[in-house]
Amino acid sequence: MAVYKVVEIGDPVLKEIAKPIKEITPNIIKLLENMADTMYAYNGVGLAAPQIGVSKRAIVVDVGEGLIELINPEIIEVFGEEKDIEGCLSIPGVQGEVVRAQKVTVKGLNRYGEEIVIPAEGLLARAFQHEIDHLNGILFVEKAENIVRKGR
Ligand code: NI
Repeated sequence: MAVYKVVEIGDPVLKEIAKPIKEITPNIIKLLENMADTMYAYNGVGLAAPQIGVSKRAIVVDVGEGLIELINPEIIEVFGEEKDIEGCLSIPGVQGEVVRAQKVTVKGLNRYGEEIVIPAEGLLARAFQHEIDHLNGILFVEKAENIVRKGR
């Protein structure tokens, strides 16, 4: 159990292409747990490993339907388009509208190394797309329109 300080925009780790995880070691399990602890501590709905300074392909998401941990996640299907407001724990106080696919199917590994396939729509689909963007060094502000800055 550990809560990390979330890395903020300007840190080069957020612009790196994160590396695939080749083997699920105890350190990877610990990474997933630290990511979830950090996401919940910051009241986020998703977190990618680079956001705690680790350039590896792992994400955690919880949009209120339970924790999902995914290793080497990939979007294998997209459908439709939807514009909605997003923020990011790495860009505090900033929100903007981002067009995303309305539905996606995501594939990845769970902590046991089993392949899982998750069809998602709405907020869950958006969270997956946002977090997988982080693994590719992409921040939502690069895609957003109508960016609003609030006090932090
Ligand atoms: Ni983010």
